[in-house]
This record gives sequence, C-alpha cells and structure tokens, in this order.
Amino acid sequence: MRVALTYNLKKKDPLKPADYFSECDSQETINSVISALKTKGHSVDAIDVEYPALFSYFRKNRVDMVFNIAEGKHGRFRESEVPAVLDYLNIPYTGSDTFSLALALNKALTKKILKAENIPTPAFQLFVKGDEPLAAGLKFPLIVKPNCEGSAKGINKTNVVDNEDDLFKKVRECINVYHQEALVEEFIEGKELTVGILENGKTRVLPILEIDFSNCEKSGEYFYSWKMKEFQGNRELGLVPEFYCPARLDKEIEAKVKDVALRTHRAMGCLDISRTDIRLDKFNVPYVLEINPLPGLDPKESNFPIMAYAAGMKYEDLIEAILMSASERKKA
Ligand SMILES: Nc1ncnc2c1ncn2[C@@H]1O[C@H](COP(=O)(O)OP(=O)(O)O)[C@@H](O)[C@H]1O
Ligand SMILES: [Mg+2]
Repeated sequence: MRVALTYNLKKKDPLKPADYFSECDSQETINSVISALKTKGHSVDAIDVEYPALFSYFRKNRVDMVFNIAEGKHGRFRESEVPAVLDYLNIPYTGSDTFSLALALNKALTKKILKAENIPTPAFQLFVKGDEPLAAGLKFPLIVKPNCEGSAKGINKTNVVDNEDDLFKKVRECINVYHQEALVEEFIEGKELTVGILENGKTRVLPILEIDFSNCEKSGEYFYSWKMKEFQGNRELGLVPEFYCPARLDKEIEAKVKDVALRTHRAMGCLDISRTDIRLDKFNVPYVLEINPLPGLDPKESNFPIMAYAAGMKYEDLIEAILMSASERKKA
C-alpha cells in the first residue's frame, strides 16, 4: 500500500511556553511508525503537516491510505484539521473521524455524552468567565483542568484544590493562560488506569494498564501531571511511575473497567484505536476522565504500545492493525 504518514513534529522553541509542543510527536516516534509500515511492506510518504500545502500535496500524490497521527495546530478543532482536508479530498485515513476527534478534545462535552450513556465520570462544572458561583454539591478536593488540552497540559499538583480561594485562583489562571474554559471535577483518589481499544477485524480491549505513582514522592506529584508525562522516568526528579500491565485488579472489576472503556469508545464514535483514562474510587467504581482517539505511539514511552505488547503484539503489528482496520472500513 502507498501510505502517507501525517504528523506534527515536536520542536524546541525557547520563545514558546514549555508545554507548547507536548502533544506533538518526537522524531523517534515518527521514525518508528515509518519503519513499522515499511517492515509490513508499505511505502511511506512522511508529511509534517506544518509545512506542505496539504491540498496540493494530496491532489498530486494519490496515496491509498493516510496514517494520521497529526495533532493539528489551532484551537479546539485542531485534531480535526487534517481529517477535514482528507474528507474534502475523499482520501481514507486511519483512526477517528473529524467529528469524533473534535468531540473527544472537548472534555466537558465528552462528559455530557458519558452521563447520557450512564458511564460514570467525575461530577463537574465548566467555568467560562471564572466568576460563576461554585455549583452546590461539588465536593472538595477538586481538580482544575483546561477543557480542551491533552498531555496533561496545564495540570500539576497545584491544580488539586481543597478550598474556594485556591479553586477560583486556579480557574482564572487556567482561563487566562490557556484561553479556554476551565473544567472543574471532583478529584478521584484511587488507582489510575488506562484502557486501549484496538479494532482489527473484531474489537479488542487490550490488557488494562495501571500507573502507580507511589514511588514518585520526591517529585511532589502523585498523578499523571504534565511534568510526570513530559519527564517520565527521570529519577533525579522522582518522576518514576510504575506500570502494571495487566493491572492488579480482581476479575470482576477488570471486566467492569473494560466494559466502561468499550462503551466510551462506542458512545464517542471512535474508530480503529482509542485510549480511555480512568480512575477507580474507593468503592472500585471506574470513573472515566477522558478518551484519547490519538494516543501517543512512542514505542518505548507511550501507554498504548505497552498495552499492545502485553497482548503479545510487536510494535509493527500494532501499526499494521490500525492500518488494516482503516482499510477494511474503506473496502466496506
Ligand atoms: N477527576 C480526576 N480525579 C483524579 N485525577 C485526575 C482527575 N482528572 C485528571 N486527573 C489526573 O490528571 C491526569 C490528566 O488528566 P486528563 O483528564 O486525562 O487530561 P489529559 O487530556 O491532559 O491527559 C489524569 O491522568 C489523572 O492522573
Ligand atoms: Mg489523559
């Protein structure tokens, strides 16, 4: 197959905020996807979507399929930018479509859908201006997050607050720095889990990944914060989460967690691949935090490949499974 890989390369630019490029992919990830595709016998056009005029590129070069990992550039529809161009040109691509990508990037809208589907998600309130009164019934501790970011951008331990003064300070900071609404959620204290869904002929829920932060004391961070993700593995900073895949869960809870992730994937209309982030509360209720239709694919660092390896797949099998799932849809 002639495959085009569309991506946004992670760059270093001292004039930009430290987390500016966090969602983008490293050269290692891009090289790994290219080499996996080639190993499986495909030819690859690698396209950093930052540069070429996508319309003219795809008009001149008829590829069979686009392997899309591009995060896009502008605002809350950024992940849909490349798929929208491809939709217009009627070129098939891997992964979720324009609509689901935009929806999943909006955490509050996602949560409204989850609620309608009776999928547990932490109680929440969306702050648009930052001077709205706190809704009755929301219980501290609360966590403040930018509504339309990923890679834990704007999230560190000071985002978890236990009083109204700190809450409103953080809400206003979030609105001002990230130029978007602040999502405030009840903080769920229990286990951190993430669940990969892979559709390849039939839908597979991969072994659940548990991320344990109990050895991260030195870092002062005790959940998947921006620092934890960006500098994962840094011993000096104490950013050393431990991974358990499969997660250490009773069979019954494992089944419940997988069911919730699969229902989230379907409710959001995701295709081929998704990763749902979940926290278990003390009664083992799996609360869905969000779904990632473009999960990181770094072969060494990212959560999704870890789950695929635990299912017995090699990296190139994972990449091929995503591609094949999309090509079967194209045929259908
Ligand atoms: N309501 C919550 N309760 C407990 N931890 C949370 C909650 N919301 C976010 N977190 C922590 O912050 C991390 C990042 O939040 P998430 O909603 O997944 O945003 P992102 O899109 O940036 O990954 C989660 O993986 C989790 O560790
Ligand atoms: Mg997340």
